[in-house]
Amino acid sequence: MNNSYSVGADCGYGVVKATLGKNSITFPSVYGHGIDIQFDEDKIAAAHPGDRIVHDGREWWVGELAASPHMPIALQMQLHGRTASDQRTGNADRLLLIKAALGKLFAGRVANGQVVCVHLGTGLPVDHMAGAEVFKAQLLGQHDIQTDQGHFTAHVESVFVMPQPAGTVYAQLLTAKGELNGKFDYERIAVVDVGTLTTDIAVDDEGAFVSSMSASIEVGLSIVTEAVRREYNQRFGEFPSAATIHQIMRTRNAGKHLKDGDFSATIETAGAPLVSGVLSLMAQKWGRGTQLPVIFVTGGGAQLVLRAVEAEYQNSLVQMTVDPIMSNVIGFQHYAAFRMHV
Ligand SMILES: Nc1ncnc2c1ncn2[C@@H]1O[C@H](COP(=O)(O)OP(=O)(O)OP(=O)(O)O)[C@@H](O)[C@H]1O
Ligand SMILES: [Mg+2]
Repeated sequence: MNNSYSVGADCGYGVVKATLGKNSITFPSVYGHGIDIQFDEDKIAAAHPGDRIVHDGREWWVGELAASPHMPIALQMQLHGRTASDQRTGNADRLLLIKAALGKLFAGRVANGQVVCVHLGTGLPVDHMAGAEVFKAQLLGQHDIQTDQGHFTAHVESVFVMPQPAGTVYAQLLTAKGELNGKFDYERIAVVDVGTLTTDIAVDDEGAFVSSMSASIEVGLSIVTEAVRREYNQRFGEFPSAATIHQIMRTRNAGKHLKDGDFSATIETAGAPLVSGVLSLMAQKWGRGTQLPVIFVTGGGAQLVLRAVEAEYQNSLVQMTVDPIMSNVIGFQHYAAFRMHV
């Protein structure tokens, strides 16, 4: 069936990523109730395609639009919450964000009123896998996807929920068509995934997840972004926009032309406890890592921890993934494609 797609969706605490293999989208994991726009509605809509979605009978704003100054800060909601009850709402939030992601992915690809058949690969943090069945049940079936970019039905025919770092493993083991990647020949793969609120480590043994060597800690890049925010405010007397923080995290600089624009020291200092927390989790689960031929370092915090991991695990091949933000979702899509063929 040519309207059947394997899709990967990674609903992180900081960034939602989704891919069809060739085409990908990302947006911040922020959403809130849509509000009436008094001025410039057309301009705002044009600047934020796909950021308005109808869900549960009302309009919601997601991503850049929800994070923009058009959205009253009190209405901005983010994916967070780590307690068991929050986990349930967490899944409801993820559903809304995944629907928005499907709207963006298929915009211009499906006609209004059309049905697309989706095989969905997705993930949860390692320590949340107990909620996988509930999450899967929520995702399966027909979803009415109505955004400012179009209106269609996503028929989610199958859902594969895996621990998030397993995505990075499948990104290596399988191809986008779901075939085995003959070029990759490690039997055992370790992954360190440093995200926004969580850091996950995981080991995969010939395609089997080794739970005794996998775990999450609730620390991530947000401690660094918070420090950058405070420092920016101290230096410039105002709080930076989400886009500015994003730029500083990427380039370590608020703008070359700016006096005092260099945030390297802030990032290093604020990142130090994150680096040591990650190393101690690894030591706890992996010891000295003598059994680990290869360790992939991934997630938005990959660059921050890379050198420390290399120094500590000198007998392993320590490798940063090609695209640390996208590597889990790439693997989710590969896995969904693989399962479509078996
Ligand atoms: N090149 C980059 N592009 C996007 N974000 C980046 C980049 N470099 C660093 N970051 C930071 O990485 C964060 C996103 O990382 P990542 O996507 O791994 O987190 P996440 O998956 O949303 O979080 P979690 O795994 O905790 O759920 C952003 O908040 C941003 O501050
Ligand atoms: Mg993540």
